[in-house]
Amino acid sequence: MSTNGLGFRLSGVGSALPEKVLTNVDLQAWMDTTDEWIRERTGIGQRHIGSSTTELATLACQRAMDAAGVGPADIDLLLLATTSPEHICPGTAPAVARELGLDCGALDIQAACSGWVYGLTIANGFLLQGMKRILVVGAEALDKITDYHDRGTGILFGNGGGAAVVEADPDGEGQMLGWDLGSDGNYVHILYAEHGDVLKMDGKEVFRQAVKAIQRTVNNTMKMATDAGHDVSLDDVALIIPHQANIRIVESAWKKLGLSMDKTAMILENTGNTSGATIPMALHDSLIKDRIQNGDLVLFVGFGAGMTWGSALVRWNGS
Ligand code: COA
Repeated sequence: MSTNGLGFRLSGVGSALPEKVLTNVDLQAWMDTTDEWIRERTGIGQRHIGSSTTELATLACQRAMDAAGVGPADIDLLLLATTSPEHICPGTAPAVARELGLDCGALDIQAACSGWVYGLTIANGFLLQGMKRILVVGAEALDKITDYHDRGTGILFGNGGGAAVVEADPDGEGQMLGWDLGSDGNYVHILYAEHGDVLKMDGKEVFRQAVKAIQRTVNNTMKMATDAGHDVSLDDVALIIPHQANIRIVESAWKKLGLSMDKTAMILENTGNTSGATIPMALHDSLIKDRIQNGDLVLFVGFGAGMTWGSALVRWNGS
């Protein structure tokens, strides 16, 4: 599906973090690890815990709607990317919709840490079908499925929420120039949680596969954009907003792609890996820091359990 020439913009962005912080030093009290090791090997200094997926999603969505200046009647669809839903059934999105006063369609996306990028591209498809405005939120209460006594996984994960109001841009100044989604179910066993259990992970293999997936999806998205006639290259990208599980994954992939960390939006030190919430939270952080201007090219890159991966290149036309 080509995206050439069709307007697409993120008109409001918001995020939410629980108040309670779990630092690396806190973890040292009951885990055989050190603040120094975690910072050096992952880039993480702390993570937030507490609250719930529904609460964090609702707060992030409300803030995004306020930023966009829209109310419940203006939203045509709610897409919630989460790895930590409240129930096996039903999805968490209908409860979030209820909290926001929405009665539109509401569904969960389970694509792990790639979920929000999947949501962004699905929203783009629905805009092409005639919808006007879609909430795309990523929210996680990963503390419910993380064993904070296991040093292989407990150092990594935290809670949070991030959301964007995604809408058609009639002027066509904002656009999704290219995108890519992928998966490889041969790697289910390297990162998973069974019903009622915590996350299990083969960290080294996840690291290896993530670096490969990032390179592949970034190249595919740039190819789609250029095949569609857009004169763009990676050098033209003003800001890259990657999923963040371990800073060394991003650094390794960037080295192979020739990308600079200076052009990268990182929040991992303060949040840990918040799965589907990471990318929209990093986007919100970048907007607060005034790192994105209208007309800029912004590249979103996700990867995670499944394995899944995805990326999207957006010509920014924010509110
Ligand atoms: N604190 C202190 N030491 C630790 C430790 C911790 N939290 N975790 C592992 N170690 C030790 C190991 O026991 C090992 O010691 P040894 O050499 O004496 O045997 C040494 O550190 C190296 O272990 P290793 O497993 O090779 O560490 P690593 O550099 O691969 O880092 C992860 C482990 C989990 C941080 C890393 O593999 C990772 O981030 N993987 C990707 C995870 C991810 O991205 N998940 C989400 C995807 S969306």
